[in-house]
Amino acid sequence: MKSVAAIGLAIAAFAVIQGADAAPKKGVAIAPEEIVGARHAAMMMSSSAFGALKAQANADDLKRANFPAHALAGWAKAIPAMFPAGTDIPPSDALPAVWSDRAGFDAASRDFATATAAVTQAVAANDKAAYTAALDQVGKACSACHDKYRKADEKH
Ligand code: HEC
Repeated sequence: MKSVAAIGLAIAAFAVIQGADAAPKKGVAIAPEEIVGARHAAMMMSSSAFGALKAQANADDLKRANFPAHALAGWAKAIPAMFPAGTDIPPSDALPAVWSDRAGFDAASRDFATATAAVTQAVAANDKAAYTAALDQVGKACSACHDKYRKADEKH
């Protein structure tokens, strides 16, 4: 599970670099292109973490789901900060609605955070039924946000 651990660390690093709010703090300058690159990489890694979680659905115990579950839950909280104003630039596939309907985008991020938190709780309790249900909600949260806030022809 080494690669999954790396995912968690990389996502955590993005969250630290970017901070909790959209405006870069004094002394921390990140170019808009770098933010787009970081969120592309994190989205790809979240896909990989989600795949790792699904692969554990029939496992005897859920301990191997712990790292990817926490990686996704951490990323979910970081998403709004990774879409600051001024990052609606190529090669971003985000729709303008991310910025014009900010409340909706933040709500979609919160729904994703709720679903991923439920996965971490199910893992901690080793509760398979709750785990399966929570993974289903995570998948729905990915799609719900993409449907509204990501260009349709860019789906992987
Ligand atoms: C709150 C909104 C939101 C949620 C939740 C979300 N995404 Fe995304 N995702 C986006 C947006 C917006 C983009 C386009 C970002 C860009 O191009 O700047 C994107 C892009 C992507 C990409 C393409 C990255 C690339 O390199 O072009 C993948 C893969 C992806 N998401 C997977 C996922 C998976 C898997 C989940 C759920 C586990 C998920 N996303 C949850 C909004 C979301």
